[in-house]
Amino acid sequence: MKESPQSRIVIGSDHAGFTLKESLRRRLEKDGHSLLDVGTFNEESVDYPDFAEKVARAILSGEGDLGIVLCGTGIGVSIAANKIRGIRAAVIYNDETASLARRHNNANVICFGGRETSEDQAHAWTRLFLSAAFEGGRHQRRIDKISALESPGNSGQS
Ligand code: RB5
Repeated sequence: MKESPQSRIVIGSDHAGFTLKESLRRRLEKDGHSLLDVGTFNEESVDYPDFAEKVARAILSGEGDLGIVLCGTGIGVSIAANKIRGIRAAVIYNDETASLARRHNNANVICFGGRETSEDQAHAWTRLFLSAAFEGGRHQRRIDKISALESPGNSGQS
């Protein structure tokens, strides 16, 4: 994932994240990023896992460097996206989580709550995330342990 002004971003939301998605997409395009919007495209009620999945699969297939998913709280989309092997989705709610989600967790998807987060906050926090860099080292070791939890043999039972 690069912090260049040309980051390729895949964005999606449910109805509760729709208004914030529209604003964030426009602002990030204005910043020079390339945006792929996978919907939803209006405020009719839809199911957030469908959009978390679309964004996550687009990231894994290389269509984007960073995924952004939005629902009412950011929680539902993060739970759904994190079910997909290879996705590290982080709910962002302040400056520090925006920065550390990249520096420590190397998140490839960030999540916002349309009912919790203002347009200015979502934009500022996305810019903070993009301007940070993964620190590697002990954080890579921890991410490797997360990846090990995704192994088919790990059913959660010991
Ligand atoms: C939809 O009303 C709401 O439940 C959803 O957007 C999200 O907040 C779930 O986590």
